[in-house]
Amino acid sequence: MSDDVIQLENVKIERDGRTTFVILNRPEKRNAMSPQLHMDMCEALDWAEEDEQTQVVVITGAGGNFCAGQDLKLYFRGTEGDPRLRARARRAAHSWRWDKLSRFPKATIAMVHGYCFGGGFTPVIACDFAIAAEDATFGLSEVNWGIIPGGLVAWAVTQAMNYRDAIYYSVTGDKFSGKEAAAMKFVNKSVPVADLRAATMELARKLEAKSPAAVRYTKEAVRSVRGMSQDQAMDYLNCKSDALKHMDPEGGREKAMKMFLDDKVFKPGLGEFKRG
Ligand code: COA
Repeated sequence: MSDDVIQLENVKIERDGRTTFVILNRPEKRNAMSPQLHMDMCEALDWAEEDEQTQVVVITGAGGNFCAGQDLKLYFRGTEGDPRLRARARRAAHSWRWDKLSRFPKATIAMVHGYCFGGGFTPVIACDFAIAAEDATFGLSEVNWGIIPGGLVAWAVTQAMNYRDAIYYSVTGDKFSGKEAAAMKFVNKSVPVADLRAATMELARKLEAKSPAAVRYTKEAVRSVRGMSQDQAMDYLNCKSDALKHMDPEGGREKAMKMFLDDKVFKPGLGEFKRG
């Protein structure tokens, strides 16, 4: 396994076994997202996608906060007179926070502590899983300074919140805690901040143990069928199942079936088969 990780100005990469932490790294600015940070995140995710050691990606922020949203100074004011930089920043901001993350071929977990505001919601929603510190502070603060939750935020929140909550928190700008986020199922669960990393790693280790191909095809299937009719979903899922059968380099399905039906050494209902 290689220990080399990509070096970037505003993003830090750390390994924990087969799990890779991709860390927004502007702690003195509460990890507000500058154009450079967006470009670094694009590079980091491309790197993690290709990195053979990485099986699970955790997105989080340095210095005890997740992300204070777009950087008002560098992303908004700093690009006002420079349409080309504005366009590049906007492209990169959308690319990593939604396109790359929501289609990422490996499992992704948002680990949220401290502040998570505005544009910081998008990557939380795009990740497959989200775990928050109970005392984390979430807020769609755009309305507080006279803008809308743009850059896909308003759309993204409707994917992860029920309609009443989406309207309520977007229009009032009221903050909510990690504990409240878990109660409304905006995140999978919340834990005391001291246990956040351990809870995240417990999930990460569970995902590491599964077949990477099965994890990838399953998450792609669940994401894709949401926008399909029943007929389309049936056809797509049949094709997707066939594709997994042929594309899984570990041949998991055949191995697991043999272990259950013939060797009787494994029960699929009780956990994954032993790989490797
Ligand atoms: N854009 C630009 N700079 C930001 C920022 C943002 N979104 N969030 C924080 N910062 C900067 C502050 O300007 C400050 O910079 P300085 O040290 O050069 O003065 C530094 O980060 C620390 O922030 P500060 O406000 O002093 O820290 P705090 O812990 O008291 O408060 C927040 C943190 C996140 C509550 C507060 O900074 C805030 O409200 N930020 C804006 C959040 C927001 O509405 N984001 C949505 C944007 S779409």
